[in-house]
Amino acid sequence: MSTPTFSVADIRKSFLDFFASKGHTIVESSPLVPGNDPTLMFTNSGMVQFKDVFLGTDKRPYTRATSVQACLRAGGKHNDLENVGYTARHHTFFEMLGNWSFGDYFKRESLKWAWELLTEVYKLPKERLLATVYAEDDEAYDIWTKEIGLPPERVIRIGDNKGGRYKSDNFWMMADTGPCGPCSEIFYDHGDHIAGGPPGSPDEDGDRFIEIWNNVFMQFDMDENGKVTPLPAPCVDTGMGLERLAAILQHVHSNYEIDLFQKLIAAAARETHITDLETPSLKVIADHIRATAFLVSDGVIPSNEGRGYVQRRIVRRAIRHGYKLGQKTPFFHKLVKDLVQVMGDAYPKLREQEARITEVLRVEEERFFETLAHGMEILDSALAGDVKVLPGDVAFKLHDTYGFPLDLSNDVARERGLSVDEAGFKIAMEEQKNKARAAGKFKMDRALEYTGAANTFTGYDKLAESVNIVALYAEGTPVSVLNAGQNGVVVTDSTPFYAESGGQVGDQGVIFAPAGRFVVEDTQKIRADVFGHHGVLESGSLKVGDAVQAQVDTQLRAATMRNHSVTHIMHKALHEVLGSHVQQKGSLVNADRTRFDFTHNAPVTAAEIREIERRVNAEILANTATDARVMDIEAAKATGAMMLFGEKYGETVRVLDIGTSRELCGGTHVHRTGDIGMFKIVGESGVAAGVRRIEAVTGENALAYLQSLESTVDQAAAVLKAPVAELTTRIGGTLEQIKALEKEVAALKGKLASSQGDEMLSQAVEINGIKVLAAKLEGADAKTLRDTMDKLKDKLGAAVIVLAAVDGDKVQLAAGVTKAETAKVKAGELVNFVAQQVGGKGGGKPDMAMAGGTDAAAVPAALASVQAWVTERI
Ligand code: ALA
Repeated sequence: MSTPTFSVADIRKSFLDFFASKGHTIVESSPLVPGNDPTLMFTNSGMVQFKDVFLGTDKRPYTRATSVQACLRAGGKHNDLENVGYTARHHTFFEMLGNWSFGDYFKRESLKWAWELLTEVYKLPKERLLATVYAEDDEAYDIWTKEIGLPPERVIRIGDNKGGRYKSDNFWMMADTGPCGPCSEIFYDHGDHIAGGPPGSPDEDGDRFIEIWNNVFMQFDMDENGKVTPLPAPCVDTGMGLERLAAILQHVHSNYEIDLFQKLIAAAARETHITDLETPSLKVIADHIRATAFLVSDGVIPSNEGRGYVQRRIVRRAIRHGYKLGQKTPFFHKLVKDLVQVMGDAYPKLREQEARITEVLRVEEERFFETLAHGMEILDSALAGDVKVLPGDVAFKLHDTYGFPLDLSNDVARERGLSVDEAGFKIAMEEQKNKARAAGKFKMDRALEYTGAANTFTGYDKLAESVNIVALYAEGTPVSVLNAGQNGVVVTDSTPFYAESGGQVGDQGVIFAPAGRFVVEDTQKIRADVFGHHGVLESGSLKVGDAVQAQVDTQLRAATMRNHSVTHIMHKALHEVLGSHVQQKGSLVNADRTRFDFTHNAPVTAAEIREIERRVNAEILANTATDARVMDIEAAKATGAMMLFGEKYGETVRVLDIGTSRELCGGTHVHRTGDIGMFKIVGESGVAAGVRRIEAVTGENALAYLQSLESTVDQAAAVLKAPVAELTTRIGGTLEQIKALEKEVAALKGKLASSQGDEMLSQAVEINGIKVLAAKLEGADAKTLRDTMDKLKDKLGAAVIVLAAVDGDKVQLAAGVTKAETAKVKAGELVNFVAQQVGGKGGGKPDMAMAGGTDAAAVPAALASVQAWVTERI
């Protein structure tokens, strides 16, 4: 190949020189954090520092500019983080070569100079170059084909190919709003030995045709609604990826093979003790040291929000790749010096800040290495077997407890051809936010600032210990003294208090000081290896440095241990009774009970519950000794221990044998299974599709549960005056008796009513040949009223009848009119007339109508009024 070789430094210089020779002012790279621009997370292209110039709100002493700009595309509109390490050309941090016209030259000069630089200075073979133009941009098309002489088949028109007006690969926007315009991209063909198709073809994402230079013709300002207005003066904004150009000019295919990256990759290999320089993780590390170091130098330090969180994600991703290469201790920060060597000349700020950058990265690295191993174990076991998707709750737990950003879990999953349930992750994240809002209490404490040493947990063997206070907190901030009445957190160099973890709640108890008594209401981790005692100082005062006596509440602890140990035994029994599909989904163990959620598709039947209880109690009766051994994860796996999500112990794992169960667990447990006393399931329910919940009690709680059941049974027996053993037969018999009696009562009522009916016949008064009867029927219900009514009608012949039944205050009314008489008297009207007088209303058909009322005392008068009402109508 005749193309000369250029180093990265040569390219920077020759580019700037070329445009300087065309009247451009050389402008310094601006910081990665755009000044005063809330619409943009990071500087993502060379034009960012000129944005206001395009908009006409800023003026510069020049109308032509050129720069080599440090850019970051991670987070925000342009985000390449996920692609880094997987393609030959993607970076988070990269350098963009650019030239600008602010209302000066336009398309013609821009494209011609680009061509001149590429073919005459860099001497790229013309036949390897092709260009795209925005489909509607005939002007650019003609410049390429007619003036520059690129054959038409190598000028490709690209329209709105991204689902909307101006949504196109050939319409450039810095952000969702702001300066924008059609663009023309220049591509380099690396040759047919590399997979990929030309721009606009289905295979365009391959690595053969690489976009090297984008010429944007800034013409518009776009508002939030996608409406464009012309800019005060059309401008040019170009950007060429330095690394991509270098790859071409150094006759290599991948950006990672260029001189600059080769040095960084070698440094990464040195720090991770890897000899194969092709290892993809080395590329990731080399890319990420640039991004993170530049970010620190521009003032972004790792945090949990905004830019700081993007920074944290990149650092942690780099560390994880180092870990993958076998690196178990901080290494990443050691690459800063190598970076300064290769980039310090072009970016002097980097050199000035070398020490600070190294330190910031080292601190972040140490922090992450503390939890990385545990997190990876969890991730590995969650992705083991033929899992295709990492469950969202696991990804969230990793994020929340182990500081694994979602894209890190994604990265690991992707390496194994798997994916992450991101929707599930979001749900878990929401749930936790809601919980935190609801709980509130210790939320703030989680973020307590503590940089001291880990404390030793002695609570497997001891429940009381003489310890020293190493830190105190009041209202979330460090204090040296805690005074009587204050709520706070006490950290001691060593502690027998167990901090909440693996489903087991934190211990309660008392810390006795020479001059104070601190009641521990809960113990929570401040950091993975530092336990904080949360509570209130009842009397006296506490100060940092005090020698104190830490005393765990032994009863609560013993009850909690019983429940925790039995959970392991129960878990095994669930497997045996329900099947091996049973998987723990969550657990809560406190002094009162154990609550265990697991996957199972149907309610656990009463028979299954009995069998589970039988098996667990058999293990308890066997009274075998508990055995806990600490070992590395591989050895633990070899023991066949059940691996449980979220259970951990220090750097290594703790394998726990209780009865015949074997699980990994960092919790506190009984010495012998017999200590559990007894096990009783007290609840079984569904919590979500395919997830069941069992609640169970042990020891004294089991006894209390049984005693309370017994007392209920005894009371029932006393009421029924039957021995307990006969309770069910007696209740069955009693219920049958009640049913029989009810039937009898109904029959008697009917009889009673009809005999009353006979007596009533004599009470009917004859008016104009029609019998009028209004009477009270004792003890009748609605049905009896109706039946009696029918009988009376039969017997009386032509008749108008009102019957009333009274039950307490409640009044039931029925009015009946024989067919022929309905022409004159309507039962509905009649019943309504009467009902109104007893505080009710009603209606119905002309021959039969019902009503209700609430004023029983008014019934006699109301009935008495019937005769006159009827007389008026017949
Ligand atoms: N600002 C344009 C780009 O980044 C040149 O592609």
